[in-house]
Amino acid sequence: MEDVKCCVASCEKSLDAAYWEAQYKAKATGWDLGKVSPPIQTYMDTIENKNISILIPGCGNSYEAEYLLEHGFTNITVIDIAPTPVAVLKDKFKNNPNIQIILGDFFEHQGKYDLIIEQTFFCALPPTMRQKYVWKMHQLLADEGKLAGLLFNRTFEVSPPFGGSKEEYETLFAVAFDFLKMDLCPNSIAPRANSELFFELKKNNKVKVNVYELEGITCNGSVQSVTKKLAGIDGILNVSMSSNFAEVLIISKNEMAIGELQNAISDDEKYKIEKIS
Ligand SMILES: C[S@@+](CC[C@H](N)C(=O)[O-])C[C@H]1O[C@@H](n2cnc3c(N)ncnc32)[C@H](O)[C@@H]1O
Repeated sequence: MEDVKCCVASCEKSLDAAYWEAQYKAKATGWDLGKVSPPIQTYMDTIENKNISILIPGCGNSYEAEYLLEHGFTNITVIDIAPTPVAVLKDKFKNNPNIQIILGDFFEHQGKYDLIIEQTFFCALPPTMRQKYVWKMHQLLADEGKLAGLLFNRTFEVSPPFGGSKEEYETLFAVAFDFLKMDLCPNSIAPRANSELFFELKKNNKVKVNVYELEGITCNGSVQSVTKKLAGIDGILNVSMSSNFAEVLIISKNEMAIGELQNAISDDEKYKIEKIS
């Protein structure tokens, strides 16, 4: 990833399937370690039940899946939006019943998993999608499911990758997940030393996690007032707005009626809220 030279963040090209496919075709895959990521290997070695269902989103060449297969895991799903790595994996693991390889968009994927592994997928997404990432991860996990892997604890001048910090992640995942671990990683590969956090989060299955499209919010001032109004509704436990003000993640004790959310913010009639399902 460190070798990628692209002005995506500044010129606002979309990071869609065509973008990622072009990187693979041009062999501009600086993120690809060529081997399983050591901290993830260490984590996978601690898993006793080899029959749990595991998802690896944005899998790329997925040395992690290969490692799991070599070590007897029987229920692995990998998904990537770019055809080239998916074709490579389909060829490599043809006739292997223990892995399902999907060409598709993670955000449209349906399923239930005991464990989802994060390895340079979060940092490949535009930061505006972070609220949607939390929602989708919560949706795809089984009741006792866990999300584990690596997140960058630094910023980048050229993106992707998009960085972040422990404080940001603690706020982003709050309430939707219980934090089992989020610490500076002791065994990152050398170029990422001291810049990765290893995290393990457990789904909080006692809450409802939803993401809503928002209209009419155009500045930080309105973000604060709308967030405050939503957070003040009885039963709402956490509210987090996307950095482009287009989406809001709401964690609540029970499912919220859309009318109640709309009413709370309707003092300004340009504000509209609609559920994403
Ligand atoms: C930085 S690469 C990391 C690949 C792999 N995890 C690794 O560490 O080598 C990000 C990957 O996410 C994939 N990707 C990006 N957006 C996606 C989406 N919405 N759904 C599925 N895969 C996506 C890209 O095609 C790319 O393979």
